[in-house]
Formats: sequence, C-alpha cells, structure tokens
Amino acid sequence: MDIDRPVIRPRRLRTGPAMRRLVAQTSLEPRHLVLPMFVADGLDEPRPIGSMPGVVQHTLDSLRTAAREAVDAGVGGLMLFGVPKPEDKDAVGSGADDDAGILNRGLAALRADLGDDTVLMADTCLDEFTDHGHCGVLDDHGVIDNDATVDRYVSMSLAQARAGAHLLGPSGMMDGQVGAMRQALDLDGFTDTGILAYTAKYSSAFYGPFREAVGSSLHGDRKTYQQDPANRSEALRELRLDLAEGADIVMVKPAMSYVDIVRDVANEVDVPVAAYQISGEYAMITAAAERGWIDRDAAILESLTGIRRAGADIVLTYWATEVAQRLG
Ligand code: PBG
Repeated sequence: MDIDRPVIRPRRLRTGPAMRRLVAQTSLEPRHLVLPMFVADGLDEPRPIGSMPGVVQHTLDSLRTAAREAVDAGVGGLMLFGVPKPEDKDAVGSGADDDAGILNRGLAALRADLGDDTVLMADTCLDEFTDHGHCGVLDDHGVIDNDATVDRYVSMSLAQARAGAHLLGPSGMMDGQVGAMRQALDLDGFTDTGILAYTAKYSSAFYGPFREAVGSSLHGDRKTYQQDPANRSEALRELRLDLAEGADIVMVKPAMSYVDIVRDVANEVDVPVAAYQISGEYAMITAAAERGWIDRDAAILESLTGIRRAGADIVLTYWATEVAQRLG
C-alpha cells in the first residue's frame, strides 16, 4: 500500500527532555507561588488540620519559623489568616480590627522578622472572627448587611496596614469593598498598601477543609455573596468594578474548576492575575496520593502548571514552600 506519510510531525518537538525544555511555554518559578498560612490564638504548639494533612494552625513562634523557611525557598509572598479563640468571636468580628487580635499580631510579627524580604498579604474578611461564621455582619433579620460589612472591612484594613501588611485581600465579595478600602487607606496615608482583590470568588464546596482550618462556625452557605459556579460573565462584571475601584491585583478562586475564568480575566486585564488553589483542591490531591491512586509530586506540579497556563501570574497554594524548594 502506498500511504502518504505525514510531512508535519509535532512529535519531533517532544523527542527528549532537552527539546521539551526548549519549547515549554509555561514556567513555574518559586516567585510565582504564595503560601497561605494560619495563625491561631492560644495554642501551645502547632495544631494539625485533619482534612489538610501537612498543613497546620501555627503558633506565633511556629508561624515565624515556617514563614522564614518559605521566604528562604524563594516564594513570592505569604497570605495570612487568623484563627481567634472561640470565646473571642462575636457578631461583628471584633478581633479582626483589634491591633491585639491574632491576625494583626501575626502580621506584625512577620513584618518585623521579614521586613520587605517578601510580600506580606492579609485576608481581609470577617468569617474567622464572627460567631455566626459569615463573612459580614447581619441585620436584625439575619441577612448580610453589605454596607455595614464594608465599614468593618475598612476598619480591618487600617489595622492590617498598621500591622505591616503589604497587600490586603478582601475575600468577602461585598459590593464596593475595594473602593471603600482604597479610599480609607489613602486618607490614612497608606497609599503604598495594595489591594489583592478577590474578584471572582465562587461559592464552592471545595472550601470545606478551610472551614476546619479556621474553626469556622458557619451554618448555611455564602450564596448571597459568593458567585454561582454556573456563571461566567459575572466574573467580568466583578472584574470591571474591582479595577475601577482601584484593585492592584485581581484573583480568581477556586482555581482548578475555574481555569476558564482565570483565562477570561487574564485576557481582559493589564494588572497581575492571581488564582487560589484552595483547601479542597489540596485535600483531593493529597487524599488520592495517599491511596496510591496518583503520583503526588507529578500531580502537584501539573495542577500548578495548569493554573499558570490558564493565565495566572501568581498562584496561592498550600504547597508553595515544598514546590519552591523542589524547583530550587
Ligand atoms: C474567607 C475565605 C475562605 C477561603 C479564603 N478566604 C473561605 C470561604 O470563603 O468560605 C478559602 C480558602 C481555602 O479553601 O483554601 N475568609
């Protein structure tokens, strides 16, 4: 038989490691990775988080050690979450804007240790600090009061800026949160404190392990403020608003089930794009690997490369230190 053989053979560019390295389009470097960390009040020693094997709630001391390790590995930044004692939670999340609250103390400790060696980021949200577990304050009918919540975020922002955060991450999806924070920061002289806006944050089942990580007392869901997973163009609407309100970096979250949104956002903007590989994504890969069902190290790198390929300049991942060390 006289079959025409292909003239064009894409496999030529896959023949060996050197060729593949030459033509690889997406890179993953330590500086692209941001490590989310939890610091808890009243702990004597770090407390493991059952649904996130390998991740802990830190004491102030262990936080400082782990942060130094991450920075030495070359990560691009740290994102800090606070876990107050259950008895310190209240309806308005008073611990959030208290300079002596655990998150602000953690930020101050890290800034004192690390100075400007890394980019220190803070979660600007109330859910860790409220006794009802919602990201905002509730009105008399138990409904989130958007504008009263934004006032709380403003106060929290100023406390976080005072504590030394370089970037604030409002993650509550309240309308007008970025603009209000920007105005308040500027009026208080914090013109260099930036905002990493959670631009498209979806209401996701994959946050499950995080709620254990921060000891959240949430009953119900966050569907009146976080986006419906079915929606795509809504992310671009949120994006336009965040940019107009002064966001410095925009973020999509979760990452792996939302890579199309990461790409949509990346195609639109001239600011850096971040994506957050969240707790449930960490847990899924970890659990499957523990059972021997997938190759853990390869799956981690593939997942992060995929998020970068989708358009994320920056990836928040609980594996940041480990991967940064592996990449060298
Ligand atoms: C809210 C917040 C959440 C996460 C980050 N910021 C939880 C939520 O919205 O319920 C989730 C992060 C993760 O799952 O890794 N402060």
